[in-house]
Amino acid sequence: MKTIGVLTSGGDSPGMNAAIRAVVRTGLDKHLRVMGIERGFTGLMDGEIFQMERFNVADIIQRGGTVLRTSRSAEFMTEEGQNKAYNILKAYGIEGLIVIGGDGTFRGALALAKYGIPIIGLPGTIDNDLAYTDYTIGFDTCVNTVLDAINKIRDTATSHERVSVVEVMGRHCGDIALFSGIAGGAECILVPEIGYTKEDVCRKILEGKQRGKRHNLIVIAEGAGGTVDLVKYIQEVTGLEARATILGYIQRGGSPSAMDRLMASKMGYKAVDLLLKGKSSRLIGIKHNKIIDEDVQEAMSLVKRIDEKLYEIADVLSY
Ligand code: F6P
Repeated sequence: MKTIGVLTSGGDSPGMNAAIRAVVRTGLDKHLRVMGIERGFTGLMDGEIFQMERFNVADIIQRGGTVLRTSRSAEFMTEEGQNKAYNILKAYGIEGLIVIGGDGTFRGALALAKYGIPIIGLPGTIDNDLAYTDYTIGFDTCVNTVLDAINKIRDTATSHERVSVVEVMGRHCGDIALFSGIAGGAECILVPEIGYTKEDVCRKILEGKQRGKRHNLIVIAEGAGGTVDLVKYIQEVTGLEARATILGYIQRGGSPSAMDRLMASKMGYKAVDLLLKGKSSRLIGIKHNKIIDEDVQEAMSLVKRIDEKLYEIADVLSY
């Protein structure tokens, strides 16, 4: 193998740059030509490709986002789009491809792998919604960003003796809410994987008030739905002032944490190593603190579940 390509696709996440850097520097160390593909699968279909050198990845390990930029491409999900992409890969002599992204990216990788191109995937998403890996690149930074916001919101909630409902991202996965909720000492954590009723939430708030709690912090995952309605309901039923904060895109940006940089560096190195060993259609992940790789199809067939024990702990500690 002489030439490999690297792209980032789907939602950006902090640590993607550290992963790109690791791929490029490991590739160069192994005397490979490393081609950077811009704007994900869209840029691949359009041939937005350039040869990467060491200087292209200098000074990026600490930056959020992705220097290769990213996109979500509907065209690439069609056979025509995939043919286009394959022909571009051939035209540039790219013999192995490393993709960094989430499940949409991996579905794209699977489609391309059918053409016989060796593909390795790195999990880059803030959502931590991939079952085959304990962590995804960007999740740790995201949780810390949410935590910082929760700490600030708590100051106001305490001062005004209010109920604060903080909505976080995560698509259909409750991990961002669960991890940041526990670390932030939330009174209530609402996730899509575990049902809740608005009545239960209000009961918890009122019981807490009776015990002398001066504020209530509720962290709700976007996938659990109905944040604004919940706030209205809480005000009506408890008679307490309640406010909603929808954190939005601040959760996706920012300088990656040490953990995300380290994980991205190890995974980027491993991706190049696997390609050179002739491996194909593998996803890299982390299980019990060890970097692992798993067949794409198998990894994608696993169903992500919430850590119920952790949820139980959150419930006990929030009393
Ligand atoms: O997958 C990352 C994520 O930020 C999700 O948490 C969120 O639901 C989604 O992307 C938002 O997507 P977009 O960037 O297309 O608005």
